Order: sequence, then structure tokens, then C-alpha cells
Amino acid sequence: MAGNTLGNIFRVTTWGESHGDSIGCVIDGCPAGLRLSPRQIRDELTRDIPYPVLTRRVETNNFQILSGVFEGYTIGTPISIIIRNSNVESDKYKKIIHTPRPGHADLTYRMKYGHVDWRGGSRASGRTWISTVAAGAVAKNICKLKSVAVTSRLLELGGYKVNPDNLESVIESLAEESKETNDTTGGIIEVKIKNPPVGLGAPMFNRFQADLGHAILNIPGVKSFEIGSGKYSSRLKASLFNDPIDFKEGKIKTLRNRAGGVLGGITYGNPVIFRFAVKPTPSILIPQKSVNLRTMKSAMMSTEGRFDANYTPRAQVVSEAVSAIITADHLILSGYVSHDSIIPRKERLLFGMQTRDL
Ligand SMILES: Cc1cc2nc3c(=O)[nH]c(=O)nc-3n(C[C@H](O)[C@H](O)[C@H](O)COP(=O)(O)O)c2cc1C
Repeated sequence: MAGNTLGNIFRVTTWGESHGDSIGCVIDGCPAGLRLSPRQIRDELTRDIPYPVLTRRVETNNFQILSGVFEGYTIGTPISIIIRNSNVESDKYKKIIHTPRPGHADLTYRMKYGHVDWRGGSRASGRTWISTVAAGAVAKNICKLKSVAVTSRLLELGGYKVNPDNLESVIESLAEESKETNDTTGGIIEVKIKNPPVGLGAPMFNRFQADLGHAILNIPGVKSFEIGSGKYSSRLKASLFNDPIDFKEGKIKTLRNRAGGVLGGITYGNPVIFRFAVKPTPSILIPQKSVNLRTMKSAMMSTEGRFDANYTPRAQVVSEAVSAIITADHLILSGYVSHDSIIPRKERLLFGMQTRDL
């Protein structure tokens, strides 16, 4: 099963299955001298389940940094992080081994690989993405070096527009509704990369938004990606769409941000803003039409295992992590951060990294 790595120089490989002993990541290409405390990783991992009322599998996410960090700083070697799976209930999946869940990856995994781990969706499970969230904590530290911040917000949940005032109540009612109807919902998320330096991205196959889109569309259940004014761009005339260019506080800026912060695949200092849509959780208790792969006959099936009533808030956490990974990678690719060490070259021999702070 190829394709477990994200990034060009700052490369994150994740491993592990939803119901295996543990999951984790290996980060290759992280420069030496970056301050990294277990607390920073813990802080990101505790965001895994932002709203427990929407989720039935809650994990403690006990983790260990196995390599790549010494005395609180990265040393340039691969950083390996292991996260234990402690709350698995695999038996429930035995009942649906032969009847793939509509909307999930059971069918395609079977067709492509023949032999698969049927417990909890294996690599197709949202669970495995918590490794990426751990790697995102490291990437966010690289972003901080250049004062770049990745933020996000929920725009829609289950078809309702959400804001900080109604968010909790919408979540409560979606959880309640899911209990009553046994059905699930999706949502829309907006991600903002604040203060990107000029020149991230390259015009052909490393366009900044294309690398972000690649990362976001790899998150399970993501069904669309749009940057700036997105699909509405096609409805505007160029005279309204184009962002006028001017001087602002001594810097060249555009006066609007319909482009979403990227032109010709390259950032120019405006915030990079994009949105994506998450489909409803495919596993539901409602009986659905499927096939029995053993008898090769039509069969009705309903999910037995645990599932999220709406996993959009969890996908939001993952989206910040992958966006930080792509941004960190581009900061290195564009020369803003050295891939060898964050300590200035002339200081490397003179000072130990212990004397430096982020
Ligand atoms: C954080 C996260 C949590 C998820 N939780 C569930 C879940 O509880 N049940 C489920 O059926 N799918 C869940 N999914 C979605 C499936 O993983 C996804 O639909 C499946 O792998 C098929 O991939 P596709 O929808 O991209 O085709 C989750 C996805 C993410 C990112």
C-alpha cells in the first residue's frame, strides 16, 4: 500500500491501523535546533476529539517520542512518534466482514488488496490521522519561526451555518438527531494561513494551493476543495474578480483577496484562505443495500461498530495539521528555513543549540 508520505523535504510518513496496537509517524527532513516539547504534541493530540458528544470512540492518545529529539530540540534525524490505540472494539466489525459498508473504503480495499485488516476500517479510518496531527505540531513550530500561523473555523455543520455563538447548540442538536435517526451529517471548514511570506510555491507542479489541495483531499471523507472565492469565481466578471494591486503600509498588497492569497501558484503575503466540504459519516445503523462478498448475493447491512455522528470538527484538526505540514515544507523548499538547521550557519560551531530559544 504505497502513498503514506506527505511533503517534499519535510516529509511525514504515517503508519498503523485503526485497531492495531499503535499508530504513529516518522518525520524526515526536519531541521536540527528546533525546539520541541512533548507538551506541544500533547496539546495538538488533545484536540483529537473536540466534541465527545459527536464521537463514540474516545482515545487517550498516550504517545512517546522515540527518536529525533534530544534535550528539547530536534537533532535533524528522523523524528518518530508512537501513539497507542487503547480503546478498540474489533468484534463488532466481524459481523460486517463480508458486507462492505456503502460509502466507506471496505469495498475498494478488498478489490485492490485482497487481504485487508477489517477491524475498524484499518488505514481508511479517521483514527489513523491522529498521527498526522502529531506531525502537525512539529510543522507548526517550523511555521512559527517565520510567524506563520495556521488557523481554521467551522462554517457549516449538518447544513446549518455555524458561528461561535450557535456552535455548541448546533452540535448538541446534531448529536441528539443522530441518536434518534441513526443517521449522520457532514460540514464545511475554512482554513486560513496567516502571514505567509512572499514566494511560497512554484508555478508548475508545486503550486502552493495545489499542494494544499492534495493534502486536504487526502483526508478521508473530503469531497471538495476551493481557494479564495472558489466556485463563485466563475460567476464574476474579471473586473470584479481581479484583486486590485496597491501600496499598503509601505508594502505591495492586493486590496481584496478573491484569489485566496495565491497567484500563479505563488504566495504574495496575503493570507491563504481555502474551504473544503466533508461528507456525512458513512457508517450508520440504518440498514443499507450492499453485497455479501462470500455468497456473492445482494444483502442488507448496517454498521455494528462505533462511528462519529459528525466528524467535521475532527477533520478540522487534521486539516490544520496537513496545512502546517505543507506550509513548513514550502518554507524549507523556498529557502526561508534551512533544512539542515535553524541555527544560523555562522553560529552553528560557536553555540550549542541549548542556548537558543524559539
Ligand atoms: C477524523 C475522521 C473521523 C472519521 N470518523 C469516521 C467514523 O466514525 N465512521 C466512518 O464511517 N467514517 C469516518 N470517517 C470517514 C471515513 O474514514 C471515510 O469516509 C472513508 O475512509 C472513505 O473515504 P472517502 O470518504 O474519502 O471515500 C472519518 C474521517 C476522518 C478524517
